[in-house]
Amino acid sequence: MLGDREHTYRVAADGFWQVHREAPATLTRAVLDGVGDVDGARVLDLYSGAGLFTSPLAAAVGDDGTVLAVEGDERAVRDARRNAHGLDRVELRHGPVEQVLAQDGSGADVVVLDPPRVGAGRAVVEAVAARQPSRVVYVACDPAALARDVSYLAEHGYGLASLRAFDLFPMTHHLEAVAVLTR
Ligand SMILES: C[S@@+](CC[C@H](N)C(=O)[O-])C[C@H]1O[C@@H](n2cnc3c(N)ncnc32)[C@H](O)[C@@H]1O
Repeated sequence: MLGDREHTYRVAADGFWQVHREAPATLTRAVLDGVGDVDGARVLDLYSGAGLFTSPLAAAVGDDGTVLAVEGDERAVRDARRNAHGLDRVELRHGPVEQVLAQDGSGADVVVLDPPRVGAGRAVVEAVAARQPSRVVYVACDPAALARDVSYLAEHGYGLASLRAFDLFPMTHHLEAVAVLTR
């Protein structure tokens, strides 16, 4: 439940889903705060999994905006297709983010990315920066990979506007961070 909106998700039993029961709502709120006003915008949702952020982002962009979600796991894309059913302003692409971005020349006003622990890496950061989004919202489970990718983004004129950390893996040294970078 996010404000007055409820989003329902179906995810394969062994597919990726955030572990902490509060994580889906907490991270979605942080991402929506991070993207700011995206009414009418084109938003990329990279490493979109089963579409946790895709449907809330589709609601945020409204009737005039679009969301391009990219995910490498075929089954997660199938789940996302079901979860985003009826949202005609969502386009779901299956494939490695680096490959899909290399083949898709479309622009982006805002980019959300939630890569695995290794982070996005230089090729994806460069493809993101080439689109010159006004904001990049980076969800990270490994602070070291995040720091590396933030430094790559800095080479393209992006600076950290905010950085929040969430204790979504209690009693461990792990944390989840949401960084907002602006140009
Ligand atoms: C941390 S999960 C985030 C998923 C989703 N945003 C969520 O919070 O539920 C990372 C996702 O990236 C996908 N992935 C990993 N490497 C990828 C790549 N090179 N290209 C596309 N997707 C990838 C995984 O299958 C996984 O669904």
